[in-house]
Amino acid sequence: MNIRGTIVKQEDIALKVREAGRLISEEYAGKPLLLISVLKGAFIFLADLCREITIPCEIGFIAAKSYSGTESTGNVSVAFNLKQDLSKFHILVVEDILDTGRTLSKLLGLLKSENPLSLKVITLLDKPERRVVSLEADYTLFTIPDLFAVGYGLDCDEKYRNLPYIAELD
Ligand code: IMP
Ligand code: MG
Repeated sequence: MNIRGTIVKQEDIALKVREAGRLISEEYAGKPLLLISVLKGAFIFLADLCREITIPCEIGFIAAKSYSGTESTGNVSVAFNLKQDLSKFHILVVEDILDTGRTLSKLLGLLKSENPLSLKVITLLDKPERRVVSLEADYTLFTIPDLFAVGYGLDCDEKYRNLPYIAELD
């Protein structure tokens, strides 16, 4: 598979990430904030976003997987081993892309059962046409059509994560 074209340019990502960081810093000022990133796709988004957040925050990682190549398997596996007591934090889940919604829905269920002070979601990309589970993110940076996106952390069979922009595959 090859890159067909750019969907979101590097400078447009940077602008939106900066704006999101500002909004989060305002909304969570004075509150214990825990950013939980969904590996691996969200690792670059989280790294950039947390540096645009000007209030104290903690960071945790969760591993979730539902794709094999460019196909959603429908089976979502989630693994987490967070050291924080989640009931003491406002949790903001940092996702790379919201597709069918299965991953996020499973994750939110697990996190809710830990009784966080609040639970919200920020996603870099949203493909609303593909939704199977009815679910929306609290913040979405870019809404895209039904195509397979790579770059800025997103992969196809572990490749292309290091592209500094978001591209469409053939
Ligand atoms: P969902 O459970 O179907 O919403 O899938 C969410 C996960 O599938 C994301 O966190 C990604 O890891 C992966 N995914 C969905 N669409 C794409 C895409 O266009 N490119 C790369 N990964 C994707
Ligand atoms: Mg992912």
